Amino acid sequence: MITVRAPGKLFIAGEYAVVEPGNPSVLIAVDRYVRVDLTPSVGKGSIHSEQYGRQPVVWYRDSNGIVVDHDMQPVDYILSSIATVEQLVSELGVTPRFYDLTVSSELDDVSGRKFGLGSSAAVTVATIGALNEFYDLELTRLERYKLAMLATIAVSPRASGGDLAASTFGGWIAYSAPDRGHAMTLRDERGVIGALRSDWDGLSVRRLAPPSALRLMVGWTGSPASTSRLVDNLQGRRWTDEVHYADFLARSRHHVEALITALDEDDAEGVKTAIRGARRTLGALDSAAKLGIETPALARLSDTAEAIGAAAKSSGAGGGDCGVVFVDVDADVSALLREWELSDIRHLALSVHPAEGGL
Ligand code: MEV
Repeated sequence: MITVRAPGKLFIAGEYAVVEPGNPSVLIAVDRYVRVDLTPSVGKGSIHSEQYGRQPVVWYRDSNGIVVDHDMQPVDYILSSIATVEQLVSELGVTPRFYDLTVSSELDDVSGRKFGLGSSAAVTVATIGALNEFYDLELTRLERYKLAMLATIAVSPRASGGDLAASTFGGWIAYSAPDRGHAMTLRDERGVIGALRSDWDGLSVRRLAPPSALRLMVGWTGSPASTSRLVDNLQGRRWTDEVHYADFLARSRHHVEALITALDEDDAEGVKTAIRGARRTLGALDSAAKLGIETPALARLSDTAEAIGAAAKSSGAGGGDCGVVFVDVDADVSALLREWELSDIRHLALSVHPAEGGL
């Protein structure tokens, strides 16, 4: 059996703007995982997971590629990963084989609610990792990220892939998304192998050092968010409000670049100032485009953190899920934790997943 785990992620800054190629963002990987176990099988493959119901999802192969008898979103990402690796394997002239995949996730709570830690991305990265071992592909980390990105764009064309990069590379990263149209053109013109070996317009990933004088805290609001709904709403809005959107992109870039500089200089105050700026920038976008990024629960989470001198903001699409807080390592956070408990905000005891390998 092959077992591969991939970590979840948190966006620290640059959300929404990052969907535009070349716009910077900062993410971390967290020490909670999606795990994929792969066992070889004969005649058909299957996908099992407690999260996706008791019935296994069965897939098979016909002349058009992978066929599935079940339609569920996380499964879409797994199947897209399988299909993308299938194309790679056929380009390499390797005979495709069947396998059963069993998925288990720590990125949901016991009742099955998602924390918003990037479970679709983590399952994609873990599936690609398992298939890389199964077929002895010896792909580099960057190639695995690109393969995961090709699989993801096929399901969700606007996804920035920041979550895939965090899950693939671990630790703290500065990330700018590739031009997805360019990536798909490369795939169509040069095949999957050619696309993996080419430079992708806009893509940039750089390792960042964590701030030594700040502690990261994560609060979970308990309400799930729909990233695709929020991103679609914003993209729909964009064409009717170019000026606001351009202003948002410029302000987001300013705060994310300030955050990256502060991290490079291990400047705790600079990090907090940049996080507060990023919160205000998302707030301005939120009121202009009426998206509902900062829900009342997320506002409470951040306001109570700011009241003790910390910097805080929603993470990812907002609309629920988690908020991130940066507080001085020696600060007393007991009052904050009490406030959170009174407001039904759960403190998630997460640490940053260690950085993995070079970039
Ligand atoms: C969602 O976690 C973050 C967004 O920027 C979308 C994306 O990056 O694909 C809103």
